[in-house]
Amino acid sequence: MQQALKEQLQKFVRSDKHITVLTGAGISAESGIPTFRGPEGYWTVGSKEYHPQEMATRRMFTLAPDEVWKWYLYRFNVCSAALPNPGHYALVEMEKIFGNRFTLITQNVDGLHIRAGNSMERTFHIHGNAACMRCFAECSRSLWPVPEIFRDRPPSADLGPEEIRLLTCPDCGSRTRPHVLWFDEIYNEHFFRFESSLRTARKTDLLIIVGTSGVTNLPNQVVAEVGRHGGLLIDINIAENPFSQYARKCKGYFLQNSAAGALPEMMDIFRQ
Ligand code: APR
Repeated sequence: MQQALKEQLQKFVRSDKHITVLTGAGISAESGIPTFRGPEGYWTVGSKEYHPQEMATRRMFTLAPDEVWKWYLYRFNVCSAALPNPGHYALVEMEKIFGNRFTLITQNVDGLHIRAGNSMERTFHIHGNAACMRCFAECSRSLWPVPEIFRDRPPSADLGPEEIRLLTCPDCGSRTRPHVLWFDEIYNEHFFRFESSLRTARKTDLLIIVGTSGVTNLPNQVVAEVGRHGGLLIDINIAENPFSQYARKCKGYFLQNSAAGALPEMMDIFRQ
């Protein structure tokens, strides 16, 4: 890491400024969770292969709820079998050091930040949580855990009547749905902390962007806001991406490294 950046980070710890970390699928790649756009994301329905961008939609759920649920239950099982990695644990340490000066905005629905030890209070799950479900008819805003019984089910097995019953809203009898933001839906504050994320961006002095390809709306708005008001941007990614270019343009930094490599190193600097 460059000396100039080390000095900026050490000075930052001693200030009263706000740090925000924005994470994407890259931070969980080293926990063995395939990124959304890899070949593992594809799913066969009947004789046709579907891309995640087609599966993860309200439209597809309306047409084929059982197939969408089967795909999410498979993804949920991959996430629950995975363990947090040193990148996740470094962010737990960061929250301990910075306290109220720290916010974590994550696009990941794998729950690994919370399982590692970050607090629900300071972690915004802007794309939801695959371990939870809610009523598709929106009779209430209740969230329920996806029942444990679905763990380890064979991915391609059809849902049986008892499984469908367990995926039914206990209040109104409609289908439940995974608690995630689908591609054809929009953000809101209640479930996805939309306004809270933008409010946080406005007060952020240092934004660390980790393992995201920068294709979704709210993360783009957060990064653009911090760049616009002159906050320091640091992008950590194994590959060049739109945020690495933007960080350089704003006199920030691109650390071409894995999350599990760069974040513990950054924590060492904060601790010094
Ligand atoms: N360390 C750091 N970065 C990594 C690592 C790693 N070990 N492995 C991969 N990456 C980077 C990739 O280079 C890529 O830029 O992580 C990024 C992953 O990109 P995506 O798969 O597009 O994931 P993400 O940006 O989180 O996707 C955003 O889009 O698919 C929807 O809702 C879904 O939340 C998701 C959103």
